[in-house]
Amino acid sequence: MHFTITTSPVDQPKAGLRAVGLFHKRKLGAQATVLDEVTEGRLTGVVKAGELEGDAGSTLLIPSAAKGQAGSLLVGLGSRKAFSAKNARKAWSALAKVLVARPVDTVAIGLEDLLPPDQDIGWLVHGLVAAIGDAAYRYDTYKRKEDVKPIRLKTVHLCVTAEQASAAEQACTEATAILAGVNHTRDLGNAPPNVLYPEALAEAARELAQQHKKLKLTVLDEKALEKLGANAILAVGRGSERPPRLIALEYSGGDKDAAPIVLVGKGITFDTGGISLKPGAAMDEMKYDMCGAATVLGVMTAVSQLKLPLNVVGVITSAENMPDGRACRPGDIVKTLSGQTVEILNTDAEGRLVLCDALTWVERFKPKAVIDIATLTGACIIALGHETSAVLGNDEGVIAALKQAGTTSHDRTWELPLWEEYQEQLKSNFADMANIGGRSAGTITAACFLARFAEKYPWAHLDIAGVAWKSGKQKGATGRPVPLLMRYLIDQSAA
Ligand code: BES
Ligand code: MN
Ligand code: ZN
Repeated sequence: MHFTITTSPVDQPKAGLRAVGLFHKRKLGAQATVLDEVTEGRLTGVVKAGELEGDAGSTLLIPSAAKGQAGSLLVGLGSRKAFSAKNARKAWSALAKVLVARPVDTVAIGLEDLLPPDQDIGWLVHGLVAAIGDAAYRYDTYKRKEDVKPIRLKTVHLCVTAEQASAAEQACTEATAILAGVNHTRDLGNAPPNVLYPEALAEAARELAQQHKKLKLTVLDEKALEKLGANAILAVGRGSERPPRLIALEYSGGDKDAAPIVLVGKGITFDTGGISLKPGAAMDEMKYDMCGAATVLGVMTAVSQLKLPLNVVGVITSAENMPDGRACRPGDIVKTLSGQTVEILNTDAEGRLVLCDALTWVERFKPKAVIDIATLTGACIIALGHETSAVLGNDEGVIAALKQAGTTSHDRTWELPLWEEYQEQLKSNFADMANIGGRSAGTITAACFLARFAEKYPWAHLDIAGVAWKSGKQKGATGRPVPLLMRYLIDQSAA
């Protein structure tokens, strides 16, 4: 899909369909009026006949009157006086669904109508591109060709005013790169776990490194991990026929000696729970337990495409958590890469185990900040649901920047406390710590565990268990929190 910014009015670009706004009680937006004039009152006629009131999120397709002429798509925006970000969002997701379903290659959208007074054009361009990208996303690799309905839409002209043009261009460049990242993350997340195992993640990282000169790849296999002493990663991977991997992609877009921002993604390609086996219901969804890793690859894709002027290291810590004769068991004690020992009381709390060694390993990059991304706890879904991820960490600045980036990108995160008192819950009778902290405050105690391995740099942890994928009829990876992290990195590169 190709998005362009144009300063011509919505009736000008060559297009099969033109989309404009209609406010509540049948009031045409400015760009709708432009279309109304060139169609000799067709929009007014249809609206007067009572075909569309203008409620936010409603749509009406007005086919072209003559052959070769473009059709019009009216999008309801709600009341003009109370035109809000919320209604704009409703409008653009409805609009996006219609656009990708039409048999047209090219569309033009009049942005003037769709911009609430308290938002800027960049916000709107980001939102529209993301919404159309979302509506156009399919994962049909394994479907019969005949059953796949192809999407015709190829080019989207975003019509803005001359004053908006440069901000819109900038946002469009960012948004298309973010969309590429989001789609990559979704593809990796949706891939079946028999195909996507730790070595396959390393292969995906290799493909990315081959496409971009500024990326350097390192892969540690099980032998290298043994030599290193990353015994926590190895313990998690022990029950699987598919060996674990620690993967690093170093992107150098900044000054040679500028400290990098390091992202660490949890890459459990399937989480059965191990010997502490999970119940069977919806266990297939544990293929999504690598969405933190997929996020890292999506962000590296977008960062490389945008050529951001900063240094970023994307690290993936990957294993498959399986029950087996060689699998680790409840009661096992492992010595982590940091030297601290952990009593594994529950083999299903494996994410923090693969992460802790990675958090120690990344000390070598002398990071400016480390952010880990993990589908870490079911408790996070209980606490915050599917609307927001959780953020916890040891650095107020990083946490505040992430919260801000989440708000701007509408990929929000919310802070939970990481107070010292919670550390108590991780006490073990036999090792430096246990890998579980009991039933209460599960997201916090998981982060408490990680905090013990992240003392040497500013660090934040994103628990994305509730936002990385959708269940039920709409089952599929969302690509979150790529938009949040990209906003954070773009803001950092500007600062
Ligand atoms: N990957 C899961 C967390 C998860 C579960 C995410 C369901 C999304 C949906 C993680 O490895 C896990 O199993 N965590 C346990 C921790 C517990 C054993 C302390 C959990 O949340 O139940
Ligand atoms: Mn688990
Ligand atoms: Zn897991």
